[in-house]
Amino acid sequence: MERVALTTVQGTMLATLYARALDSRAPYSILGDHIADEVVRRVEHDWSKTGTGAPWDAVTLALRGRELDRWTTGFLHAHPGEVTVLHLACGLDTRVHRLAPPPSVRWVDVDYPDVIDLRRRLLPEPGGDYRMVGSSVTDEGWLEEVPGDRPVVVVAEGLTMYLHEEEVRRLIQRICGHFPSGELLFDCFSKRLVRMARKMSWLGLGFVSRAVLESWHWGVDDPRELEGWCDGLEFADELYVVDVPDLDRLPAVARIGMRVGARLPGGRDSGRLLRFRF
Ligand SMILES: C[S@@+](CC[C@H](N)C(=O)[O-])C[C@H]1O[C@@H](n2cnc3c(N)ncnc32)[C@H](O)[C@@H]1O
Repeated sequence: MERVALTTVQGTMLATLYARALDSRAPYSILGDHIADEVVRRVEHDWSKTGTGAPWDAVTLALRGRELDRWTTGFLHAHPGEVTVLHLACGLDTRVHRLAPPPSVRWVDVDYPDVIDLRRRLLPEPGGDYRMVGSSVTDEGWLEEVPGDRPVVVVAEGLTMYLHEEEVRRLIQRICGHFPSGELLFDCFSKRLVRMARKMSWLGLGFVSRAVLESWHWGVDDPRELEGWCDGLEFADELYVVDVPDLDRLPAVARIGMRVGARLPGGRDSGRLLRFRF
């Protein structure tokens, strides 16, 4: 058994890992992420405290992950030559195992050093052209470890809310300056949701604890605002969380709650997946 000691933000990846493990145990699993389940069984942790034990968390997080998997696969199919996948804030996510990219793909998983250490201990080596980088994505140096010779697809799930706007801007500018072309895929919250979450953090929000809510900073209302951050950066697509396919997999009470929530002011656009190209 492995013990884990992580700080608040790094620890959030245990909640998403647990949700994928629970999804894999369901009779009609969405992601079929059996490695997540194996890892959960090997880590000594009070999983009941992650807060993602409810059936709707497993479904919503698995559906979000599946859409980002699909967008990433779409990029790989559209670029059958040599490309790089930059998976930011990878946590213990097995996206590289789920997508099993061909040898022409260079895959780079990036997260804080303590998370990457844990990843090395707990997850199987996927093989192929795979590497891990242990760094905050906001540090200036780490991108130099990644060759900028190919088109890139950057996928970041559950990251952007933990960054400040200036950090996101700088990160995107550095990526766009480093690679010849590519796509950026990430989930985000609306500014209003981030503001409300911080104001009402004492309440907690579903599986997200007070300390985590206080670590949320950045939200997006108009994705086109980002186009001004770099020459050639173009907003390509969005998917509202309330429009993700297969939400009928949610228990009825959660489905109804989501529909009602989407009708409230600011409810519909509170969570989105965004796709940009450059
Ligand atoms: C909600 S978890 C998501 C993890 C993974 N993407 C998943 O879906 O399971 C948030 C992740 O963001 C990482 N993270 C937050 N801020 C970061 C930063 N500045 N640099 C690198 N990773 C960061 C945390 O360490 C954590 O692994």
